[in-house]
Amino acid sequence: MARTIENIVIAGAGQAGARAAEALRARGFKGAITMIGDEPHPPYERPQLSKAMLQSPDAPLAYIKQPRDWNETLGVRLETGTAAVDCDADRRIVSTADGGSFPFDRLLLATGTRPRRLAALDGGPLNVQYLRNVEDAIRFRRHIAARSRIVIVGGGVIGLEAACAAAKGGCHVTVIESEARLLARAFPALISDLVADKHRNHGVEFVFGATVTGSTSQSVQLSNGKDIPADLVLVGIGVVPSGDLAGRLGLPTADGIAVDACGRTAASDIFCAGDAALQWSRCHGRPIRVETWANAQNQAIAVAANMIGGTSEYNDPPWFWTDQYDLNIQVAGDMREADYIARGDPTSEKFSVIAMRGTEMVGALTVNAAKDMAMLRRIIAANAKPQRGDLESPGYDLRAAVEITMKAGEGDRQ
Ligand code: APR
Repeated sequence: MARTIENIVIAGAGQAGARAAEALRARGFKGAITMIGDEPHPPYERPQLSKAMLQSPDAPLAYIKQPRDWNETLGVRLETGTAAVDCDADRRIVSTADGGSFPFDRLLLATGTRPRRLAALDGGPLNVQYLRNVEDAIRFRRHIAARSRIVIVGGGVIGLEAACAAAKGGCHVTVIESEARLLARAFPALISDLVADKHRNHGVEFVFGATVTGSTSQSVQLSNGKDIPADLVLVGIGVVPSGDLAGRLGLPTADGIAVDACGRTAASDIFCAGDAALQWSRCHGRPIRVETWANAQNQAIAVAANMIGGTSEYNDPPWFWTDQYDLNIQVAGDMREADYIARGDPTSEKFSVIAMRGTEMVGALTVNAAKDMAMLRRIIAANAKPQRGDLESPGYDLRAAVEITMKAGEGDRQ
């Protein structure tokens, strides 16, 4: 007989954990919910750390929900400032670093990721920081206010958003990127060049094909033999999944915590949502970890419903955006290694690129074209197969493809 679900523990009080807790209540779960977070703050969304919080020296931290509402409105017990460090799967008890122990019938791992560290700078004489939590953002914006000379290691999303804020704040900024171009993980070269030019116009300097090998109190030393003067180094070289708790449970965690389409791990009462979850992606044709705001929210909501008996599969294509000066760049699905169809003129700074593999649309990218992205996401999510010739035609209205897609969906349901 199915075990009654009285206690749900959520390890991790970031966006995925918070949205899951809300969704459990929205779905009518009446039992106890305990959410455990190692940061001292109630849940907040992370994109603001590299965006709004860096733009002004006193931008406040925006919470997902007013802190007291977790308990008073939702009846969620929020344990902040302590990490979930162990779990006894047989007795179904999670224990925390401060000695707490919490029984569960269902456990959600929403433990996210942590920054990949750059060992060459560990213990060195120069100020080094990462950008992962509120304290990091506050520290970085103090350096912007002080007009520090800033070296950023990593020309990815975090490094470049930080570079925008620092350059706009009047700092001298140098970005060190080990690849030959920016944003190589998720963007085609066209975008790398556009973004690099934008940064150069704001005075940012780049060193490509090099990394940091050490530091003095006033400079970083690079693998190409150069020294760059610096008061601060910000490291943004990617993230690794926080798999410690899953590891204690004996779950495989090599590149994230593997889940099925319902968010269930190999242990039937343990689920995983957010950045740490390794989930199947149709667009990529393999399991991936999706490090995005949208996934942390929407996959977590779907998984929460499945923890209490639902069976809905989560298949949304990955979607994220970055703001680089006056460029709003959005990506859905997978933009790597595909045939590209450009819509609009790339030199106009307002255009879209569609990624095709055979007849399948597997990805889309928009620059200052958010309305197009709203439609492209729907087409990709529906796995529709619009005609390539139509997409290539500059006059083709994407709304037509959305309408065909929606009609086909209605047909499927009849
Ligand atoms: N030296 C220089 N550059 C490096 C090094 C190194 N030792 N190691 C990696 N890089 C570069 C990569 O080539 C890549 O361009 O750092 C960049 C890291 O970019 P991302 O993978 O996008 O990671 P990051 O910018 O740290 O963002 C972390 O936060 O907001 C989320 O979605 C975002 O998942 C992303 C996460």
